[in-house]
Amino acid sequence: MTEAILLVGGKGTRLRPLTVHTPKPMVPAAGVPFLTHQLARARAAGVEHIVLATSYLAEVFEPHFGDGSSLGLHIEYVTEEEPLGTGGAIRNVASRLRSAPDDPVLIFNGDILTGLDIPALISTHRSSGADVSLHLTRVTDPRAYGLVPTDSSGRVQAFLEKPQTPEEIVTDQINAGAYVFRRSVIDAIPVGRPVSVERETFPELLASGAHLQGMVDSTYWLDLGTPGAFVRGSADLVLGRAPSPAVPGRCGDRLVLPSATVASDAKLTGGTVVGHGATVGEGARISGSTILDGAVIAPGAVITDSLIGARAHVGARSILTGVVVGDGASVGPDNELREGVRIWCDAQIPPAALRFSSDQ
Ligand code: GDD
Ligand code: MG
Repeated sequence: MTEAILLVGGKGTRLRPLTVHTPKPMVPAAGVPFLTHQLARARAAGVEHIVLATSYLAEVFEPHFGDGSSLGLHIEYVTEEEPLGTGGAIRNVASRLRSAPDDPVLIFNGDILTGLDIPALISTHRSSGADVSLHLTRVTDPRAYGLVPTDSSGRVQAFLEKPQTPEEIVTDQINAGAYVFRRSVIDAIPVGRPVSVERETFPELLASGAHLQGMVDSTYWLDLGTPGAFVRGSADLVLGRAPSPAVPGRCGDRLVLPSATVASDAKLTGGTVVGHGATVGEGARISGSTILDGAVIAPGAVITDSLIGARAHVGARSILTGVVVGDGASVGPDNELREGVRIWCDAQIPPAALRFSSDQ
């Protein structure tokens, strides 16, 4: 039975203010902490033992997931005193692994929503005899990722993390954040100091002649590292475009959690989620958005592709498009907020303070 390591210690900087009080994997997507989807998918692929490599806001994971038995898993938690980077985090949990030196161990970045065929990645790993196998996906702009050119047999030729120059953009194949490592390769990562698996371990393995195998899988794939991507991913889970056994309810145009209150004439579309105890007032129109627990959306508000934090308040008739509102923040009535605005946690925006149109 293959075991897995989940890397969940990053600071989630690009998701702020959502990650001020909550580590990225614990921000709710489709009504449950995002990590739940990854855990449920790993379980569905036959994984039973998972080690969470935690660092930033490490204390919140165990109270939520406990020993993992509610998901049919056995979950262990290891916390880094100082962040050890992706490779250091993997090495730091090695003592918890049960696998023999040649056994495969799955490793997942904690912010990826994907339909990856996990058993297929393991069988590619076994049949190719690789030391490390990587899930690869193709993207139109690869600059924010690790580029992974392969030969015709899928063998990895180079690993170029976040290329800086046009010459380095040699492929549209990127590291999709899921690996199978031969257990002994994990044990060979240096102990007790920060190591980047992308910038150090992979290039060194390639230089030493190790076999890294890429598996291109063009199924659904999204890195939920930015607010726009997070909202998209949550909506895609609700719509059923992104597969997860952990969506709490039937897939469809909207997901309203049982304790939420939604006015009968409010319109919720495009995979909108309304969280526990949240309220949506009369005539509000919400599309492709995530409304977290306890938030209040006043009558007539129009919210598109936005994320409204826990207990935040959006005033009557305000129009929000592509916006993040932090936990506990308040947007007064008659505001107009557009693409890329981040309202910090507990901030207060006065009535009609921000407008793009001149009509009032
Ligand atoms: N435990 C621990 N400690 N986890 C960490 C640390 C650390 O010091 N640093 C990062 N992580 C975790 C993050 O929580 C995340 O789940 C994962 O490692 C990757 O970190 P990100 O910060 O999300 O990296 P990225 O998105 O810029 O790039 C990575 O993912 C891309 C695919 O989305 C790289 O692996 C790229 O090569 C890849 O293309
Ligand atoms: Mg990421």
